[in-house]
Amino acid sequence: MVNKLNLNWPEFLEKYWQKKPVVLKNAFPDFADPITPDELAGLAMEPEVDSRLVSFIDNKWEASHGPFEDYSQLGEKGWSLLVQAVNHWHMPAAELVKPFRVLPEWRLDDLMISYSVPGGGVGPHIDNYDVFIIQGMGRRRWRVGDALPMRQFCAHPALLHVDPFEPIIDVEMAPGDILYIPPGFPHDGFTFEDTMNYSVGFRGPTGRDLLSSFADYALEQDLGGVNYGDPDLKVRENSGSMESYEVERLRAMMIEMINKPGDFEQWLGRFATTPRHELDIAPSEPPYEPEEVLSALNAGEKLIRLSGLRVLRIGEHFFVNTEGWMTTEIKGADTLCRLTEVGVNELGEALENPVFVAELTEFINQGYWYFDE
Ligand code: SIN
Ligand code: CO
Repeated sequence: MVNKLNLNWPEFLEKYWQKKPVVLKNAFPDFADPITPDELAGLAMEPEVDSRLVSFIDNKWEASHGPFEDYSQLGEKGWSLLVQAVNHWHMPAAELVKPFRVLPEWRLDDLMISYSVPGGGVGPHIDNYDVFIIQGMGRRRWRVGDALPMRQFCAHPALLHVDPFEPIIDVEMAPGDILYIPPGFPHDGFTFEDTMNYSVGFRGPTGRDLLSSFADYALEQDLGGVNYGDPDLKVRENSGSMESYEVERLRAMMIEMINKPGDFEQWLGRFATTPRHELDIAPSEPPYEPEEVLSALNAGEKLIRLSGLRVLRIGEHFFVNTEGWMTTEIKGADTLCRLTEVGVNELGEALENPVFVAELTEFINQGYWYFDE
């Protein structure tokens, strides 16, 4: 069953996105959970999957990271299991992310799923990303406070909490409701029943993320290796000072590196297509030949993009999973950025370009796209 999202995107972006939290009642009418608590618990046993168990029992917070070996110690109350990037590992759950592809895909983090028993939750906290919390099975009371400066503290070494807050939203969510929360608004979910929540998260990079990634790129590409020079140096009054023109020249050296158009875009495309969680990559075995790819497509088979793989267009430059893709087949490459499922109709004339077909074959052999068999 496909969950369909009813959301007026232009209005949502104008009024709420990055501005204020909102409850979108019944945004997924007739919502059906795409995954069961048992399946979620199974995923949290896998070493590649990032998971957490958080409990609040006898007024004490505990938290531990997966993979988990067994759950037999858990009681019926006061805990929550949270699994990150489920969209990389569970295809029916990954479908929940698709309706959000209206937003730029490079902004997407992942789909986090939580299963909570009565009294379970992670406690009052602030996130640094935008999140759409979809209510699945059960009902859960969510409270959201205003984005005021708040003290953060560790209720447990693995849990960052905030003090109790005055709610501006206090709602009991039912299956199919969405609570959208921008960064910085404290929130807390509480439940009296077994409940599932699906969080589609979007995190913008910080300036620090950008600078450190660019610095890595500069080192790797051997950029900016020319030393500062000052042939116009004059005797100064205080040799222990740096003059303001020197400060500005040094600043300009750094800005010049970032301003070089080719390098900046090459780095940015790689940065934005770097997966934030592990991917379930399985190279195709045996590898395909380009003719086999063409005949499968011509026979009506569809190519599916590996869930969570980042594919991006910046102008005429293309990037796939942290690598630049130099292609002259702009329309075909654009289609691969735009859609997560393509066939002969979508790729069209691009399939007449043997270089494009060879590159596509290479991606398939790497496990980046696969045939829907
Ligand atoms: C949860 O699903 O319990 C936590 C989601 C969140 O607060 O970000
Ligand atoms: Co949160």
